Amino acid sequence: MTNTTQPTIVVATDKDHAARCTADLIHETVRENPSSVLGLATGGTPVGVYRLMVERFQAGELDFSKVTTFNLDEYVGLGPEHDQSYRYFMQQQLFDHVNVVQESTYVPNGLASNIEKHVAEYEEQILQAGGIDLQLLGIGNNGHIAFNEPGSPIDSRTRLVDLTEDTIEANSRFFESAAEVPRHAITMGIGTILEARRIVLMATGKSKAKVVQSAIEGPADPSNPASLLQGHARLTFVLDPESASELSL
Ligand code: GLP
Repeated sequence: MTNTTQPTIVVATDKDHAARCTADLIHETVRENPSSVLGLATGGTPVGVYRLMVERFQAGELDFSKVTTFNLDEYVGLGPEHDQSYRYFMQQQLFDHVNVVQESTYVPNGLASNIEKHVAEYEEQILQAGGIDLQLLGIGNNGHIAFNEPGSPIDSRTRLVDLTEDTIEANSRFFESAAEVPRHAITMGIGTILEARRIVLMATGKSKAKVVQSAIEGPADPSNPASLLQGHARLTFVLDPESASELSL
């Protein structure tokens, strides 16, 4: 039997509209179930989404008091005080501005002394929380999701990974130089991500157009990790016109 599940593709009018569409999906999830478990992403793409979530919280429209969050990934070697760590990013962008219980926000610990033990615990914590209701994803220029680089297996779990030169180069814009970008990260696996009940992948900008096209219309192949999401029962792509420009919609 072939898998005929098709993703929902939302092409927003622009980047800001894409952020609103994505925030609406998260909003709907939390409204339906105030104890939702959200999987969160870092990077430039979701910044507008978090801004809207903060605004909606301040307007009394969104309540995070019962929400639990799990972030996708973290650089190895960077602690919460480092301004390029993903824990720091999440505090700045979202957690410090809403009423989420800080102990209910999980981000892999880049300073864990025993990474093998830590990643097993992270998987266990997701299970204990009841699994992820909605997982937000961005996409790297090479198709990576979280830090699952090309070649990552579809059944991979939370683990220690090496970053590719492409990713180090792409992420060096946030650091003083490429030499300062960590070479390793802890990332949820593709298998971990696929267990989320709903997946929302947001992409904006021309630089993502080709990789988005092959993720959606190409074969499901580890050379483009995002293509391995194909067939998930509840998968939504939220795109702006530039990132959608190579699609044959
Ligand atoms: C990083 C993160 C990914 C993110 C990607 C794209 O490498 N680990 O989770 O999706 O970059 O980032 P941006 O949204 O800045 O393009």
